[in-house]
Amino acid sequence: MPEKVVISPQRALWSILMLHWRVGLLTALVLVGMVVVWSIDGCTVKNIIQAWRYQQDYLAVRSHTPNLTLTFVSPYSPVYGKKSLLVEGHASWVSNELEPNLTSNLIARWSARGGEPCKDSKAVEIAIPWLDGGEVVDLSAGYVHEFGFQALDDSEKPLCVGGDYFEADLSGESWKSRPLVKDFSNGSYSISLQVHPDFDGVYNLTIILLYRHFEGLKFTPWKFSYDRMLRNVAIRFYKSSVQLPELQACKASDFVRDVWIGRWTRHGKNDDCSIENDGRYRCLAPDFPCQAPWCDGSLGILESNGWVYSTHCSFKLYSAESAWNCLKNRWVFFWGDSNHVDTIRNLLNFVLDLPEISSVPRRFDMNFSNPRDPSQTVRITSIFNGHWNETQNYLGLDSLKDEGFQDLLKKYFSEDTIPDTVVMNSGLHDGVHWHNIRAFSVGADYAASFWGDVMKTVKQRGLAWPRVFYRNTIATGGYARSLAFNPNKMEVFNGVLLEKLKQAGVVSGVIDNFDMTFPWHFDNRCNDGVHYGRAPAKMKWRDGQIGHQYFVDLMLAHVLLNALCAR
Ligand SMILES: *[C@@H]1O[C@H](CO)[C@@H](O)[C@H](O)[C@H]1NC(C)=O
Ligand SMILES: *[C@@H]1O[C@H](CO)[C@@H](O)[C@H](O)[C@H]1NC(C)=O
Ligand SMILES: *[C@@H]1O[C@H](CO)[C@@H](O)[C@H](O)[C@H]1NC(C)=O
Ligand SMILES: *[C@@H]1O[C@H](CO)[C@@H](O)[C@H](O)[C@H]1NC(C)=O
Ligand SMILES: *[C@@H]1O[C@H](CO)[C@@H](O)[C@H](O)[C@H]1NC(C)=O
Ligand SMILES: *[C@@H]1O[C@H](CO)[C@@H](O)[C@H](O)[C@H]1NC(C)=O
Repeated sequence: MPEKVVISPQRALWSILMLHWRVGLLTALVLVGMVVVWSIDGCTVKNIIQAWRYQQDYLAVRSHTPNLTLTFVSPYSPVYGKKSLLVEGHASWVSNELEPNLTSNLIARWSARGGEPCKDSKAVEIAIPWLDGGEVVDLSAGYVHEFGFQALDDSEKPLCVGGDYFEADLSGESWKSRPLVKDFSNGSYSISLQVHPDFDGVYNLTIILLYRHFEGLKFTPWKFSYDRMLRNVAIRFYKSSVQLPELQACKASDFVRDVWIGRWTRHGKNDDCSIENDGRYRCLAPDFPCQAPWCDGSLGILESNGWVYSTHCSFKLYSAESAWNCLKNRWVFFWGDSNHVDTIRNLLNFVLDLPEISSVPRRFDMNFSNPRDPSQTVRITSIFNGHWNETQNYLGLDSLKDEGFQDLLKKYFSEDTIPDTVVMNSGLHDGVHWHNIRAFSVGADYAASFWGDVMKTVKQRGLAWPRVFYRNTIATGGYARSLAFNPNKMEVFNGVLLEKLKQAGVVSGVIDNFDMTFPWHFDNRCNDGVHYGRAPAKMKWRDGQIGHQYFVDLMLAHVLLNALCAR
């Protein structure tokens, strides 16, 4: 059955046209507002910039000091006459976690606006003192370098309210990662840069301002998308003697981590690699080995021309035999959007040696057996949640309002045996459906209590609770960055639903597919905007090239196996 495309080209084009028109009008209006407000303020921007330059000089000296561990430079200090802040650090991996009370804090911040000019104006620029000196910045590899930066309005005055959505990227020859950006809710932010000492070299740091003050969360984000590249600078990471804790193979307990800060590293490259007639890129030999500790198994089978993802732990890449040994006699239940449909097909085609299955439907319950050992079978059930009617779209979590749909889901948990593992996601359809973050949080509460009740019933029947993984929705790519399911909104929705599911005691683990997809979301090379796992095809792709890269979703298939099989 052919999969319905989530967004039509007409709709995308329309959004883009609307966007251009609205941004023009908005900018004009905002500019008029600024002139009136800011001409009466005496503080000159020049002083601020000079003060920052001064700090940059100071920093340049410090950043060459070999034993300086973690640098935290506060951008607001010169403005407020404080000294810059250097925090003692240590050589550990950068990490983050789900903010406590995420949803309520978010709603409070989202509605906090107005009263003062610095809250009403919009960011157009940033100041990053350590970076704005114009020279190549040198940083030691290994350490976490956390730098403050400040959002500025169009008269270069600092904003005093947060919620701007920055897309950050740190890319080198053999490394791609999303640096952690923190929002202090007062117009200042920080960005944390870290590369492993084995990957010294020259990197590009890119910072794009995609949305201002939570505007990506709006019902019509295409009217508000800002999408300006504010920095694209070279940074040299030099080798240092620092030791980072070596990554270990992912264990079951590693999936408890709510937010992943991983990276893609490259361990092989074939410059002459081209697409084959079946749309696949077999650039490296299938048995091209993983390099410890970045992955375990054959890297060649990922068809990524040497790239692999790792996070606070590293993943095993499964051969057909090891995957079947893991999945045999199991029942895996998926509930989510069309990205699940693609991932399941890729899992069957690429990993489980079932290339003849060219697609799976949006809703199915099937047993598959190992072609090399028919005694090994796995049951996979997948229920699309974009709508309670499997041929429709854009209801998302609200599909649970339909009683028939609820019964359909409950049925699988009321048999004698129930799924041993559940993988759920939500997002793309929710991005289109819900009018605002408050409405979505109500929908997420409802979904969490629905699944909480399902699990309670399981427990009452004396059965073992399935392991439930929340699999974060993708970072939508290229043109889709300005649409209803843009990455700003998807990241927030992921967090809100995860918080609710955890409160309801449903979730036992997280698979952060948002972090996995993010480094590849800037264009459409690895996605069609809303799917990373479309089947390989030697055909014209959305970006005009022939063929597309599917390895990001294939990596997810292996990460799922790790989650299912790790002890
Ligand atoms: C670190 O630098 C300080 C002075 O900048 C120096 O006194 C100290 O010995 C250095 N420590 C190490 C471990 O190199
Ligand atoms: C979270 O919210 C609860 C209830 O409103 C409050 O008691 C608690 O202090 C909050 N925790 C944080 C870290 O904000
Ligand atoms: C860094 O940016 C430059 C200029 O845009 C580009 O030529 C180069 O390929 C980039 N390097 C990496 C590793 O992305
Ligand atoms: C913004 O918040 C950060 C973190 O709480 C704080 O260190 C900084 O001083 C604040 N900046 C201003 C201008 O208040
Ligand atoms: C799959 O196999 C299980 C038993 O292993 C059976 O109960 C179930 O009905 C089968 N499902 C399908 C769709 O054949
Ligand atoms: C599902 O939607 C289609 C239209 O897309 C409609 O024809 C069909 O009757 C609907 N199914 C149900 C069960 O309502």
